[in-house]
Amino acid sequence: MAEWFKDMTFYHIWPRSFMDGNGDGVGDLKGVREKLDYLQDLGVDGIWFSPLYPSPNADYGYDVADYRDIHPEFGTLEEFKALLDEAHARGMKVLMDLVVNHTSDEHPWFQASRRREEPYTDYYIWRPARKNGRHPNNWDSIFEGKAWEWDEVRGEYYLHLFAKKQPDLNMDNPAVRKEVEDICRFWLDLGVDGFREDVITFISKADGLPDDRLMPAVKGLRHYSNGPRLHEYLAQFRKVTEQYDCITVGEAPRMTPRKALEFIGGEDRVLDMFIHFQHMTADCFMVDYIRRPFSLRKLKSAMSAWQYELRGKGWNALYLENHDHPRVISRYGSEKYRVESGKMLAAMYLLQQGTAFVYQGQELGMTDLDLPSIEDYPDVSTRMNYERLKKLVGAKRALRWTKQATRVSARTPVQWTGEENGGFCPPGVEPWLRVNPNYTEINAADQERDPDSLLNFYKALLRFRKEPVIRYGKYREYFPAGKWFYIYDRTYKGEKILVVCSFTELQVAFQPPYSLKNAEKLFGNYPGLTDAMRPYEVRVYRLRDE
Ligand code: NOJ
Repeated sequence: MAEWFKDMTFYHIWPRSFMDGNGDGVGDLKGVREKLDYLQDLGVDGIWFSPLYPSPNADYGYDVADYRDIHPEFGTLEEFKALLDEAHARGMKVLMDLVVNHTSDEHPWFQASRRREEPYTDYYIWRPARKNGRHPNNWDSIFEGKAWEWDEVRGEYYLHLFAKKQPDLNMDNPAVRKEVEDICRFWLDLGVDGFREDVITFISKADGLPDDRLMPAVKGLRHYSNGPRLHEYLAQFRKVTEQYDCITVGEAPRMTPRKALEFIGGEDRVLDMFIHFQHMTADCFMVDYIRRPFSLRKLKSAMSAWQYELRGKGWNALYLENHDHPRVISRYGSEKYRVESGKMLAAMYLLQQGTAFVYQGQELGMTDLDLPSIEDYPDVSTRMNYERLKKLVGAKRALRWTKQATRVSARTPVQWTGEENGGFCPPGVEPWLRVNPNYTEINAADQERDPDSLLNFYKALLRFRKEPVIRYGKYREYFPAGKWFYIYDRTYKGEKILVVCSFTELQVAFQPPYSLKNAEKLFGNYPGLTDAMRPYEVRVYRLRDE
């Protein structure tokens, strides 16, 4: 069983917006190759690629049309192999996104299934209409209306937990599970080092697909989250992946640390880590598209719960950003104190126990985007959330709320330079999505040159993460009820690292949990030391037993 991932940091690439190497306004593999030096210099140990597969892009790659190829917009399979070799030659690992809860409706399996062609007839979840043409049950789709769509060709409804163009696979069909095994083998034989598994905790639906009799925000969710045969199916896939030196990271909405241990705990674990969501709702009200003021206590209690509960039993995946959430500085930090709060947030999560993930542009402190109208947001879920909000609060407020919550903010092209298009694509070419106009102030080239930049702070932290105290140290939080500070330490073999994070722009006096007389300050985002903590200040101290 792989252990190598435990002191690693992965860089998460959402390929469409990372770097355009061929000048068509869309990110691609050529662009990634050009940036391998950058990634190595940043100090990451591997890359997780959001889907690279051919896809009609109803959900930008999360609607897969072919599991064994590369989207022509991104390059070819040959180019991918070359990139993989180059990454490996630099000692970097590569994780693919495995999207098997659903496919694209343009996948040949679905096309055959709707025509009832064997062996594909039961590859998807088809049901006849109930009386008077009613849907087979009352579940909602997470992305688009109700969870059922009528198919004229087949004369039945199919289930889609996400967009209409993302029909759910019928994982209860052994032939489908065999396909998943084969897909894993295909990429592992090619040399990839593992998978991030998309909404993998949704693959087993409750027997009989019962109506949801409660009134939750999304009807049906509890009938397929961590479903009845999830463990069994993951164990089956594990039998394949364990034949390779690879890791598996499951995306897990609604996961709690205690539940997680049933899957990622101990030597017979069926996955290596979970990407859970509990710390990503500290500014959400019921659903992630309705925002409320950020609650530090909520954030701390989620982060600490995962640290305490997994200790010695399972392994954490640490992250603050990915392609599904707005930029963290705009949420949990402050755009006014962008660099300060960016550094504080970086230290806050990177010094905890776990394998870390850094999302493209996070290391530069990229911020949310403000677009004039809902038509400018190219994302099926953003549009649906807007429609839902419009019914509740009217168009104007719905647009304002949508801007605070949309994942499109995380998908703007990476800002490499202060030149036109932020250096993402050549001048004169129109990027597929608007570059955030703040690229003139926020870009990699400027930050490379500035020793105090956020980028250089990330580099230092990623180097520091290799210290044994970060991998093995015991975690302890202090003053969990405090509303301004997040304070914790990590202890290992006579060494202690104390991390003090201020989440306010007020200057607030700080009482250390113990004497810092002989402490050495390792990291900070302000010069020197003052009695009160400065806005969004972070201090990281090292203490050693005398
Ligand atoms: C989770 C992915 O991260 C997200 O981007 C995608 O839209 C859904 N799963 C559906 O695949």
